[in-house]
Amino acid sequence: MPQQVTETDPWLALGRLEEIPPRGARRVEIEGESIAVFRTADDRVFALRNRCPHKGGPLSEGIVFGHLVACPLHNWRIDLESGEAVAPDQGCTRTYPVRVEDGVIYLSRP
Ligand code: FES
Repeated sequence: MPQQVTETDPWLALGRLEEIPPRGARRVEIEGESIAVFRTADDRVFALRNRCPHKGGPLSEGIVFGHLVACPLHNWRIDLESGEAVAPDQGCTRTYPVRVEDGVIYLSRP
């Protein structure tokens, strides 16, 4: 469960990086929003709204390759940095700022 650092700190501690396997994802619920947090093979971390821009598929259950995730429903590929669908598909899902400090993942509050 995410933990708020302080009342005024916008950054929420989500847990340790090692709790997400490389090319894996976790789903977190923050203030009513379902957010997918991804770890890539090169240990980058990204956070996207857990809803595919096509028909709302759960991106946290997709397959991560490079800096993309393939939606589990119809295989649209979504760029983890921008949230944009890869052409020829079109659409965008919201992204959230994340950072890793001392092995802990922090997400900026929605
Ligand atoms: S819902 Fe994601 S590709 Fe269709």
